[in-house]
Amino acid sequence: MNEILVATDLDGTLIGDDEALQKLNDYLTALREHSRLKLAYVTGRSMTLYQQLAAQKSLITPDALVTAVGTEIYWNGTETADNWPVCNNWNRLKIVQALSEIEQLATQPESEQRPFKISYFLGQNNDAILAKVKYVLEDFDVDIVYSQDLYLDILPKHINKGSALMHLAIKWDIDSKSIFACGDSGNDIDMLKVSKSIVVGNAKQELLDWARHSSSTELPIYIAKHSFAAGILEGLAFYNDK
Ligand code: GLC
Ligand code: MG
Repeated sequence: MNEILVATDLDGTLIGDDEALQKLNDYLTALREHSRLKLAYVTGRSMTLYQQLAAQKSLITPDALVTAVGTEIYWNGTETADNWPVCNNWNRLKIVQALSEIEQLATQPESEQRPFKISYFLGQNNDAILAKVKYVLEDFDVDIVYSQDLYLDILPKHINKGSALMHLAIKWDIDSKSIFACGDSGNDIDMLKVSKSIVVGNAKQELLDWARHSSSTELPIYIAKHSFAAGILEGLAFYNDK
């Protein structure tokens, strides 16, 4: 059988139910023994916060780790990809300066400020502030990703969880139809768009809204009944039966 790529977000998707995580780990480990599987974790966390999580939870070592919302790729856990991200016109300092006039933006901790990711906290019901961010950054080549009514990430244009996942797929020569991406919130949408996707049962409203209204017919979206890793297992079983 052809090789498959399972790409999963961590917080709220793979992580959340330790018992289900163990079951999924066993399933993926067995698949791996038949060398049919590439596993990627695709997270908003920095490497620092990923390592904190890995110290607390039982995570199997992925073939690739994508951190900082797609802006960094590590092979075999730690080896940095030197040809990622590919972007022009990213001027971190100028973006930070431009946004400094918006006082409602609270800067996230230093560990989450990355060479190609600038992150703030912004609470819910802040549409006017978000509109201002978009206006201020109008002439910059950036993507603005707001998720969970809390996280605001500024990334280089077209660098996100989806383009990072495609970078892995190209390297491993795996077709979109053999990629299963799993997520629970808005910063996962870009990767769910380029794969057969699994939306876990506990997904945030922003992701459910996207999943229910997505017009993409080519790549299916599966909304699981179960939450967290149990939802991933449910989704993989669904696609396996097809
Ligand atoms: C993770 C990161 C944070 C980011 C958020 C949403 O929580 O630590 O910096 O804003 O994901 O992408
Ligand atoms: Mg998540």
